[in-house]
Amino acid sequence: MAGSYFLTTAIDYVNSAPHLGHAYEKVLADFFSRHEKSLERDVLFLTGVDEHGQKVQQSAQREGVEPQLFADQMSAHFQRLHESLGVASTHFVRTTDDHHKKIVREWLQRLHDKGEIFFQEYSGFYSVRQEQFVTEKDKVDGQWPEIFGEVIETKEPNYYFKLEPYRQQLLKYIEENPEWIVPAFRRKELLGALAEPLGDLCISRPKSRLTWGIPLPFNEDYVTYVWFDALVNYYSFASVKGKLFWPPDLQIIGKDILIPAHGVYWPIMLFALELELPKHLLVHGFWTNSGAKISKSNAKSLIDPVPYVEKFGPDALRYFVLREMVLGQDADFSDDRFETRYKTDLGNDLGNLVNRTLAMIGRYREGVVPNYDGFHLVESDNGLRSDIYVDEYRAAVEQFAPHLALQAAWKLVQCGNQYVEETAPWKLAKDPAQAKRLDVVLGLLAETVRRLSVLVQAALPFTSEKIRAQLQLFPGPVRIEEALFGNSLKGHAIGKPEPLFPRLEEKPPAAS
Ligand code: ME8
Ligand code: MG
Repeated sequence: MAGSYFLTTAIDYVNSAPHLGHAYEKVLADFFSRHEKSLERDVLFLTGVDEHGQKVQQSAQREGVEPQLFADQMSAHFQRLHESLGVASTHFVRTTDDHHKKIVREWLQRLHDKGEIFFQEYSGFYSVRQEQFVTEKDKVDGQWPEIFGEVIETKEPNYYFKLEPYRQQLLKYIEENPEWIVPAFRRKELLGALAEPLGDLCISRPKSRLTWGIPLPFNEDYVTYVWFDALVNYYSFASVKGKLFWPPDLQIIGKDILIPAHGVYWPIMLFALELELPKHLLVHGFWTNSGAKISKSNAKSLIDPVPYVEKFGPDALRYFVLREMVLGQDADFSDDRFETRYKTDLGNDLGNLVNRTLAMIGRYREGVVPNYDGFHLVESDNGLRSDIYVDEYRAAVEQFAPHLALQAAWKLVQCGNQYVEETAPWKLAKDPAQAKRLDVVLGLLAETVRRLSVLVQAALPFTSEKIRAQLQLFPGPVRIEEALFGNSLKGHAIGKPEPLFPRLEEKPPAAS
């Protein structure tokens, strides 16, 4: 076993159904998880849902059900989406899990015992939507900005976690670990946010105001602030069968939750508990719909991934989001782009190469991959045997650039299709003198399809399995080295071709 690998995603609020942004993040993590598995690492992949807090309590109230029942139903919805997309986490995290509640209370007690948490009367302004206290500094042109929603004045004693004592340590950490935050421009934003002294973090909510949370171990009249509760999830489920995977190798989050949650609160919590920081915080951008941010508070821009999965299949959605978004930047969703990627990259390029390769081996060699050992090879044959795209693919994944990894894989797809055009096996088949040449061509094409089944397995796991099934190979997962050129299929009997990405006549569901 080549070591272990621990990766996490943000856990989604269950106050409303998942949208494309949630689906993207989980697919992204699943892509890295599958890649690490192909490197034979022992992978712990955590993802799941954030179930406590005011927003969930309010949504449950609106529906007239108990928050637990509401959370159960919504969590099931998220879990079904993950399943349909092939997001194969090791564990689906739920913050209402008793084990998690126990760990949250342990952490709070330890911080309290260490004197990191104190009790204080506070009067000030509170944003209901953001579930946080706000100050005059947060005003823009003398007004509370829209993102805060309703801001009320309240006065209540609460528990606070001291952040400022750790600010210098955090700045030093960021200086010394330039790779901690990816992409680099986010690191600069965080350094900016740490230029000024940090206020204390209010980690409690009185039960009179919020009941849906984890009671504080040292005062049961209060529940834990939802962000403190949620961040602990990464640790609560970091052990599998007695093996602790700490620290995480990769934590994937969206750009809205770097500052302050994952860039300030989280590392300071870990410092205070003397736990190692995650090796990388990977911060992705936002999906927009015709320029408007996709968010649950904007019903018009919302994109539900489910109809796309149902109509085009999970891999079509996975491919689209991984290929279309430059990790770290925003990307725009549109039905046109989605359909184009489906028709061209998936249908005409990958689907067609697999389909015609299998069809020709069926037609000209009775479904048995010819053995071309010792036959004469020409220049174009060597192009197809090259491993450069595999190297390019691996380098791109290491640089957290799935879109470039897929571009590299598709160069091999293009190479294969060009090779078919150039060699024109249907012509070779008519000339008995060309029998050996046809053996070479079909042998190399079969090998290319086999290699592609490996190269696309992290991004398109269902398609990879289908290709392998059609080739009558064991289903995988497969080591990434298997994507390198070999001549392993000689004499192997393959199955019948079946379209991977069938043509669809009607329009996809409207992304209005
Ligand atoms: O923030 N495009 O939950 P959440 C891409 N519970 N990603 C998006 C997106 C979009 N349009 N909209 C949201 C929370 N996301 C907390 C996290 S972690 C300990 C607690 C991403 O449901 C967002 O950036 O609001 C975040 O990473 C994830 O979806 C969950 O967002
Ligand atoms: Mg959000």
